[in-house]
Amino acid sequence: MITVQDHIAGITPYKPGKPAKELERELGVSPVIKLASNENPLGPSPLAVRALRAALDEGQLNRYPDGGGYYLKAALAQKWGIGPEHFILGNGSNEVIELLLRTFLAPGDEVLAADLTFVVYRLITTAAGRTIREVPLKDHVHDLEGLADAVGPRTRLLFVCNPNNPTGTYNTAGQVASMLKRVPDDVIVVFDEAYAEYATANDYPDTLEILRRRPNTVILRTFSKVYGLPALRIGYGITVPELVDYMNRVRQPFNTNELAQRAALAALADHAHVAQSIAINEAGKGQLAALFDRMGLPHLPTQANFVYVNVGMDGAPVFQECLKHGIILRHIHGDWLRVTVGLEHELTRFGQVLEQVLPILKG
Ligand SMILES: Cc1ncc(COP(=O)(O)O)c(C=O)c1O
Repeated sequence: MITVQDHIAGITPYKPGKPAKELERELGVSPVIKLASNENPLGPSPLAVRALRAALDEGQLNRYPDGGGYYLKAALAQKWGIGPEHFILGNGSNEVIELLLRTFLAPGDEVLAADLTFVVYRLITTAAGRTIREVPLKDHVHDLEGLADAVGPRTRLLFVCNPNNPTGTYNTAGQVASMLKRVPDDVIVVFDEAYAEYATANDYPDTLEILRRRPNTVILRTFSKVYGLPALRIGYGITVPELVDYMNRVRQPFNTNELAQRAALAALADHAHVAQSIAINEAGKGQLAALFDRMGLPHLPTQANFVYVNVGMDGAPVFQECLKHGIILRHIHGDWLRVTVGLEHELTRFGQVLEQVLPILKG
């Protein structure tokens, strides 16, 4: 008989989409346009690709990676203006989330997060047999006062996803400051800033400044979004050396691979690629806003590389119909879909499909 702990049996597994090539074959549509995973439609940094080729040519795949991430951390230290001992690298920032939970949550401790945010906080907390309490978004935005209210004696970690996935909304510096006044210093506050490079708001918080004053603060960043390297799985956390030291005790010694480290290092210096990616995102945001306005579909202003849109009917059949036309979206819940900002021609095609299928579905 196969047995498993109840909290594992109760998890709904993350559902990966089919590979684009497989969909193209099944649907007879090519190319499929993927607007589902908040990826960079421009592609990876060319400097990163060049670094990967050079790394392969060196023929060192028989060696273990640099488990300390020496060069990448040195470059990050320079970028952020703090010492390399403030950084922890992860196999995607997802792994840093996992390290935080595994390192700092004792039995009976709990995590606080929003109810509609990055699903991995819930997934990893539940998988670890720990408790997560979720505070509803308020007008689609993290309710930071509500989160501060919800802090209890066993709250150990508090996640603020900023900008928030899937809504694209953000919390201002003022909101964060006012929340922090009320959150005890021993609660580790994690600012997940996977999309921060896309944020243009003047009052987007400077969390590094917060970290300087409040040690139990962690900032999460990733190479999966604006740098265009999600396939390589590399991200990082920034915090005080003491917390890094504890996480290093739990971390697998070679958790980030050599190719990922080298590509990330090159991507970090590719300012032209980052600038172009942001410009494409700004243009695409405008294109999507114009499309949804024309169609009368409510959508939220976004600080990220995706738009949260209300299609005015159950989103599941809308997702399915778009899929049949080779457009992959993400149905979040109810009437709401999340659409990743693509290239101009991809969004034009998406607009044509949506304008075709939605009136038919609505009858
Ligand atoms: C809010 C948020 N944090 C973290 C991640 C994960 O990033 P990584 O690829 O670095 O694990 C994502 C990816 O979609 C995300 O949306």
